[in-house]
Amino acid sequence: MGPGELEVWLNHFEHHARHRRRIPRGLSDVLEAEERQRIASSIATFQLGECSEGRTLLRAAERFARQNQVPHVVRIFELLIREEQRHASLLRAFMQDHRIPLKKADWTDRVFRLIRRLAGLRLYLCVLTCAELIGKVYYRALESVTDCDRLRVLCRVIVSDELAHIGFETRLLFTLQAGRAAPSRALAHTAHRTFFVITTAVVWFTHRSVLRRAGHSARSFLRSCLGEYAFYLEPTAPDRGSQVSSWR
Ligand SMILES: [Fe+2]
Ligand SMILES: [Fe+2]
Repeated sequence: MGPGELEVWLNHFEHHARHRRRIPRGLSDVLEAEERQRIASSIATFQLGECSEGRTLLRAAERFARQNQVPHVVRIFELLIREEQRHASLLRAFMQDHRIPLKKADWTDRVFRLIRRLAGLRLYLCVLTCAELIGKVYYRALESVTDCDRLRVLCRVIVSDELAHIGFETRLLFTLQAGRAAPSRALAHTAHRTFFVITTAVVWFTHRSVLRRAGHSARSFLRSCLGEYAFYLEPTAPDRGSQVSSWR
């Protein structure tokens, strides 16, 4: 990812900051009691995961931008965090309208935040891409289990934004990995994939009421998530890793 590509990403996020995807008014907004009960805890955990001020990420991005003289990276992450905060506020408004209680804390959210605080941009991106890729499969599942049009469109809006987040974050991760020796890259990949599988298992376990309703078994959910992982992070020929230019 060179400066030209960074500018393309910056334009993308600036454009979407000016023209935000909206939930049209007048959509049907009925949530049956049974449905509400099934999704309440699950949606509250994801809502909590979406609300972050991103201070650790911004600090890591600022350090990285200074070291590599790529100032666009900071602005891109600022805009990306704003989109996440908007997901949180759209979900919050939906939950409040349907009297679904908000969560202030959840152990999975705490673990994610703790790991992200541990190190620099590379580790942060490893953790973030896991959350984004699994989130994409989850929101599609959530969309498929509800008859509420507002919630369906809300899931689609979130997934549309996440597609760009995943695209940018994985490209940046490739760039960061490109500067490392092949054995260390292979080791990092194995560790990342293992963390991804563990996280997928935890998400299955804690959100299985929604995922089962969407037709998933533990195995099919893992297969779907690993499919996303492979598409973005295990590209085959032509090797994306070799096409990625390093700033160093
Ligand atoms: Fe999000
Ligand atoms: Fe995201």
